[in-house]
Amino acid sequence: DEFEGSGVWRYNAALPFEEGVTLPEGDTPLHEMPRLKDDIGVDALRVKHEGMNPTGSFKDRGMTVGVRVAQEVGVDRLACASTGNTSAALAAYGARGGMETLVLLPAGKVAAGKIAQASLHRARILEVDGNFDQCLDIVQDLAARGEAYLLNSLNPFRLEGQKTIGLEIMEEFYADNGGYPDRIVLPVGNAGNTAALYKCFRELVKAGAITEEQVPKLTGVQAEGAAPMVEAIENGYEDTRRWDDVETRATAIRIGNPVNAPKALPGIRETGGTAVAVSDEEITEAQRDIAGEGVGVEPASAASVAGLRKLRHEGEVDSDESVVCLTTGHLLKDPEAAAEAGNEPEPVANSTEAVLDLIEEPSSV
Ligand code: F0G
Repeated sequence: DEFEGSGVWRYNAALPFEEGVTLPEGDTPLHEMPRLKDDIGVDALRVKHEGMNPTGSFKDRGMTVGVRVAQEVGVDRLACASTGNTSAALAAYGARGGMETLVLLPAGKVAAGKIAQASLHRARILEVDGNFDQCLDIVQDLAARGEAYLLNSLNPFRLEGQKTIGLEIMEEFYADNGGYPDRIVLPVGNAGNTAALYKCFRELVKAGAITEEQVPKLTGVQAEGAAPMVEAIENGYEDTRRWDDVETRATAIRIGNPVNAPKALPGIRETGGTAVAVSDEEITEAQRDIAGEGVGVEPASAASVAGLRKLRHEGEVDSDESVVCLTTGHLLKDPEAAAEAGNEPEPVANSTEAVLDLIEEPSSV
């Protein structure tokens, strides 16, 4: 049945329920990237492509649990603030569960594919004149006043579902390599995934499934224009300091106040990981590199590979390491960014001769 086909619910022993509102989610590919592995210079490199979830991002793993909880609690309006992907997932899973959804988006800063999804899945979409962090402030107010059930990653049930990313990685990597990855590199926005993976690994250690030494080093990557987690790691802060002005081409992680930082910072520190900031140019280049191996991801996702390349270059990552990079969202989420990073279409006259003439020349665009 549908629950057995879910890469989340097959791990229900680690979840608060047997079954949830499913589409179904999870079971995403763990791609080999042979050229990129050689180019970056690590012992093993895999890309866990969470863009292959039903709505095209890892958020589905959290929503399948979160919306189930909302049904249990008996609320009728689900809400989130979002840089886009959470709103797409909430709209789809809310629709699946037959519930009303409300999403607050930072006006002009959400990629087209994500708005299209929220829209067609019948979310009520409010475009706020402000950034993501301000949208989340408002949604928290609404939740506190009992006007809506909050389904951002502040909701701990979301993170329960997202733990299954770690379970799948460990299981698949072990099956292919006979060992566990030394490091997991992931993009960080609100730091929910980082917190979820850390919880996953702590539970695996506690259950005796892996040893303390087998826990992968959690390594977070942010865009230079929105890097409060990197700042906190570098300065030994217990919590992040809010950045009021944030900017990056990777709009999914355009976040200045990562609400899960208190849960995620210990995860990075205690696993021996680190955090690094990359430029928009490095993100674009990584997006092209990943696409060059046939895997299409959105800019925020490419930050993971950009961060790995940078840390390897700086000698922070060793050549003998095995690494999994998490790519969190699909290329089609942000078609505009993909078109900007990729080849330009070339106009040509409507004849075979004209086409032959043109393709004899190297591309000029
Ligand atoms: N990658 C993508 C594609 C995302 O959409 C997000 C977060 C992240 C990475 C960061 O994950 O918050 O767990 O550290 N997107 C949220 C949203 C904020 O509203 O869609 P995180």
